[in-house]
Amino acid sequence: MVRLRLENVVKDYGNGMGVEGVSLEIEDGEFFVILGPSGSGKTTTLRMIAGLETVDSGRIFVDNTEITDFPPNWKNMAMVFQNYALYPFLSVRQNLEFPLKKRKVKKEEIDIKIEKISKTLGITEILDSKPGQISGGQRQRVALGRALIREPLLFLMDEPLSNLDAKLRTSMRAELKRLQKEFAITTVYVTHDQIEAMTLADRVAVMNKGRIVQLGKPDDIYNNPNSYFVATFVGDPQMNILKGRLEKQGKKFSLTFSGCSISIDSSDIQADSNSLDVRVGFRPEAITRVDSNGISARISVIQDLGNRRLEHYSVSEDGSEVIRYTADDNTSSIGAPVQIFPGEGYIYLFREDSDKLIGRIDGRSLRDFRS
Ligand SMILES: Nc1ncnc2c1ncn2[C@@H]1O[C@H](COP(=O)(O)OP(=O)(O)O)[C@@H](O)[C@H]1O
Ligand SMILES: [Mg+2]
Repeated sequence: MVRLRLENVVKDYGNGMGVEGVSLEIEDGEFFVILGPSGSGKTTTLRMIAGLETVDSGRIFVDNTEITDFPPNWKNMAMVFQNYALYPFLSVRQNLEFPLKKRKVKKEEIDIKIEKISKTLGITEILDSKPGQISGGQRQRVALGRALIREPLLFLMDEPLSNLDAKLRTSMRAELKRLQKEFAITTVYVTHDQIEAMTLADRVAVMNKGRIVQLGKPDDIYNNPNSYFVATFVGDPQMNILKGRLEKQGKKFSLTFSGCSISIDSSDIQADSNSLDVRVGFRPEAITRVDSNGISARISVIQDLGNRRLEHYSVSEDGSEVIRYTADDNTSSIGAPVQIFPGEGYIYLFREDSDKLIGRIDGRSLRDFRS
């Protein structure tokens, strides 16, 4: 069942800023994440859904009822922001009660709900404390509790974890995911943090410049990016990019980059000319060491992460940097000449002069490059 539908929703702030036209369908119970860089229109989209921002054109539906011009308090949505605004002079319990008292829910019912939600969130012990007396993580939990206790039709969150330190962010992320599934509340979650998007989402919409540029499951966005923008925005460390050239040779294309050359079936490439400058992308975990025919490079930096390593390479041909993420136990020394190849993952091809993905080759299928 579709819970929330946006039909070509537009917000024009003038000077070309805002949201250019967003269409979405979000299923009941789904954890939906809008991911994009700062200024891409995420907050504006969320505020239009919440009714905190007027919609210039397009329509918004909840359960097939058009709510485009409904005021916020008619929408039964709960919103949690980065700055969780708790009432500082009220206790945690009073903060939780607040939305229910406003709706004149009976005292006994309020008590039952508070007991349940504070157990779930692990905040029973602090019910009588004031927000100033508890930690940042606890405050964030109270803010979530206050939103959840209303049992809203939709849960809207705008970068709710970005003020927390790294460790707390990781544990709150897991908690959010558990709570969302437990309460089965349809959630729209906005973030610029691709790790949050990948770990939380059932589906992700990637936004750029006021538009959705790709929509899919997290692993689809990661493995099948449709553009240079998505490919390089999603993934940490970022996808490696090298310059390359495609040349048609009979029924095949030859791809040359950084001194190595591979042959590709024409059916794997969408190219409208016989030779083309391209950008060749591959992820850090796709790289392996090879004995021959690979990219000649030297190791410039090794970052040891305990169970894994980030190896930085300087490509001999033009000095470009390539990063490899690996758990193998090959000992490597700085400055040593080696050969590497993206033989454990995909090789992505983008045109040099546009954002478009024109081909994806599975490096694992290229036998010449297996060591
Ligand atoms: N009230 C406003 N008036 C004018 N421009 C705005 C306003 N709010 C946002 N914008 C512009 O709209 C674009 C999208 O902003 P926003 O939705 O906040 O992006 P995000 O949340 O993805 O960082 C940005 O270019 C921003 O500068
Ligand atoms: Mg924002």
